[in-house]
Amino acid sequence: MRSTLHLLSICVFCTLLAKETTGTRMLKFTNVKCMDLPTNNGFTKYEFCRLKVVGRNYVELSLKCSLLNLPITNLTTRLQLFQRRDGYRPFLYNVYFDFCKLLSNMDRVFSLESYIFGAVRKYSNFNQTCPWTQNYMSVDKFALNFTTISLPVPTGYYRFDFTFYSYGVPRTLTQVYFEKLE
Ligand SMILES: *[C@@H]1O[C@H](CO)[C@@H](O)[C@H](O)[C@H]1NC(C)=O
Ligand SMILES: *[C@@H]1O[C@H](CO)[C@@H](O)[C@H](O)[C@H]1NC(C)=O
Ligand SMILES: *[C@@H]1O[C@H](CO)[C@@H](O)[C@H](O)[C@H]1NC(C)=O
Repeated sequence: MRSTLHLLSICVFCTLLAKETTGTRMLKFTNVKCMDLPTNNGFTKYEFCRLKVVGRNYVELSLKCSLLNLPITNLTTRLQLFQRRDGYRPFLYNVYFDFCKLLSNMDRVFSLESYIFGAVRKYSNFNQTCPWTQNYMSVDKFALNFTTISLPVPTGYYRFDFTFYSYGVPRTLTQVYFEKLE
């Protein structure tokens, strides 16, 4: 049942995405917040996390998080989408996945997470696999525009929460706010 639902949501996602790419809607970052969680336990340290407005509807995201406990052999992520209507409410996606597995399978799996991290990869150091030995994770000047990424959601304001866990313990939370425009 679970996997049927999962497959179904992936199919809905691809159909919507196929439709989406023929439209003219676009996405733009509106805010970003990054934090080391209380359970972090000396594992990570966020160095910076910011947006830079480069042009009308063109905003770049950059972030860097130092990793203080290497190598990392166990890395999982929860990716949850929220829609703003009377506060931020959970919306459509709430997935928990093996980030190490994603890093080594990025091009072979079709899912929301592989789509997102596939788009970010060129602008990040997510071009390696586990065990993770580089002492940071970073994203450099990633902008949302028509050519980089699209999401099958109605116009409005949204937030993606990325929670990174290692060895099952939540370490960081990264909240990316964006707007879907006509
Ligand atoms: C990952 O990307 C960085 C920066 O672009 C590059 O210096 C590094 O060699 C790449 N690593 C791998 C394993 O491809
Ligand atoms: C969209 O992103 C691509 C890749 O980063 C960039 O080359 C292009 O100039 C951007 N388009 C606009 C309209 O900003
Ligand atoms: C990661 O560690 C947690 C906690 O020890 C464990 O439950 C989980 O199965 C591990 N994941 C992988 C892919 O090894």
